[in-house]
Amino acid sequence: MKQVRIGIAGMGNMGKFHADYLLNGKIDRCVLTAVADAMPGNLERYSQLKTFDDSEKMVKSGEIDAIIIATPHFLHTTIGIQALQNNIHVLVEKPISVHKADCERLLAAHTNKELVFSAMFQSRTEAKYRRIKKLIDDGEIGKLTRVNWIVTDWYRTEAYYASGGWRATWKGEGGGVLLNQCPHNLDLLQWFCGRPERVRGFCQLGRYHNIEVEDNVTAYLEFGGGATGVFVTSTGESPGTNRLEITGERGKVVLEQGRLTFTRNEVSMLEFSRTSKAGFARPDVWNVEIPFDGSGGQHTDITRNFVNAILDGEPLIAPASEGVWSVELANATLYSSLTGELVELPLDAAAYEKKLNQLIAESKFEKKVVQTAGEDFSKSFSR
Ligand SMILES: NC(=O)c1ccc[n+]([C@@H]2O[C@H](COP(=O)([O-])OP(=O)(O)OC[C@H]3O[C@@H](n4cnc5c(N)ncnc54)[C@H](O)[C@@H]3O)[C@@H](O)[C@H]2O)c1
Repeated sequence: MKQVRIGIAGMGNMGKFHADYLLNGKIDRCVLTAVADAMPGNLERYSQLKTFDDSEKMVKSGEIDAIIIATPHFLHTTIGIQALQNNIHVLVEKPISVHKADCERLLAAHTNKELVFSAMFQSRTEAKYRRIKKLIDDGEIGKLTRVNWIVTDWYRTEAYYASGGWRATWKGEGGGVLLNQCPHNLDLLQWFCGRPERVRGFCQLGRYHNIEVEDNVTAYLEFGGGATGVFVTSTGESPGTNRLEITGERGKVVLEQGRLTFTRNEVSMLEFSRTSKAGFARPDVWNVEIPFDGSGGQHTDITRNFVNAILDGEPLIAPASEGVWSVELANATLYSSLTGELVELPLDAAAYEKKLNQLIAESKFEKKVVQTAGEDFSKSFSR
C-alpha cells in the first residue's frame, strides 16, 4: 500500500474537523475517500466523496483501508469492532468506549495485530506535556510522591449541553465531564504518573447545569509506592484554573498559565530528612524555567502517526489499548461517588456496567435539544 484510503464515521463537530485537514492535504500518503453519518444532511458537503448513511456499509464497501471513528462514544465500540473484524485499521476518538467492559470488548476484537489501532489522545503530542513526561521518565523528579491537577477551565454553557441529544445523559453519553472533557487529562495523568490503585470520587450531578450527569468532580487517588493525588474538574466554573503540580523526592514541577517550572531539590528530600541534623532545615533548590515550543501538531500529529504506523510500522503515540486507562479512572471515580466507597483498581468492569445500566434504566431526565449558533469548534479543545 502506498496511500492509505481513510473513511470517517460521524460527521459532526469532530468528524468535520478531521475531514477539513485531510481534504486540505495536511497529511501525506493518505486520502479521504468516504464519510458516513446517520443524518443525511451531514453528508451533503462531501458529494465529491463516497457517502454512506451507515458506517457498517462504509466499513464493508472496499473503499477504505482505515477509519476514524468520531461518533457519539457508545458507538465507538460497535463501529470499532465492525471495522477490526473487516480488516480495517482504526483510529478511534476519545473516550475509546463509555465503560471498561465495552473497552475490553473493543480491544478483544483487535486480534489481527497487523491492523493499527490508535486513539485520538492528541494532548500527548503537546510540547509542554512531552517535556513533563521526559522529566519523569529520565528520573529528574525521582520517586513520585504527589500529583495535583485542578482542571476547572472546561467551562460549558447550558447551550452547549442542549446542543446534542446524546450529550450529558446516562443513555447517550454515559457520563459528563469525566467522559467528555477529561479523557485527555485522565490519560495524561496516568501517562505521567502510572495507574492508581485506589480512588475515592466525589461527583456532583447537574451541579451547575440542567443535566443528569457529573459536571463537578473531586477525586482522591492512591498510587502504588504511597504517592497520592487529587484531581479536580468542573464545567461550571469560570474563569477556572488549570494547574498541574507533580512532586517527587527531587522537586516539584508546576504547569500553569503557559509556564512550566521545575523547583529542583539539590538532594533528595527524603534522604535530606533522614540525614539532616537540623529540625527546620530544607534542601537547597534550583529554580528552573522549562521552555517549550508551540503546542505540537495535536490531532494532525496523531493522524499522521496513524498513517505512518500503517505504512511504515512507526510506533503509536497513543495505542488504543492505553485508551482504557482514562475510561477506567473516569468509571471508578463515578462508581466511588455513587456507592460512597473507596474503589480498588482494576475496576470490576461488570459491576460498573451494571450500575450504569441501572442509571440508564431509572433515568427520568428529558433532554431538550436546542440548535446553537455556529461557533468555532476548535475553541472547545484544551488550552
Ligand atoms: N479529540 C478531541 O479533541 C475531541 C473533541 C471533541 C469531540 N471528540 C469526540 O468525538 C466524538 C464526537 O463528538 P462530536 O462533538 O463531534 O459530536 P457531534 O454530535 O457533533 O457529532 C457526532 C456525529 O455522529 C453522527 N452519528 C450518530 N450516530 C451515527 C451512526 N450510527 N453512524 C454514523 N454517524 C453517526 C451524528 O449524526 C453526528 O453527526 C465524541 O466521542 C467526542 O468525545 C474529540
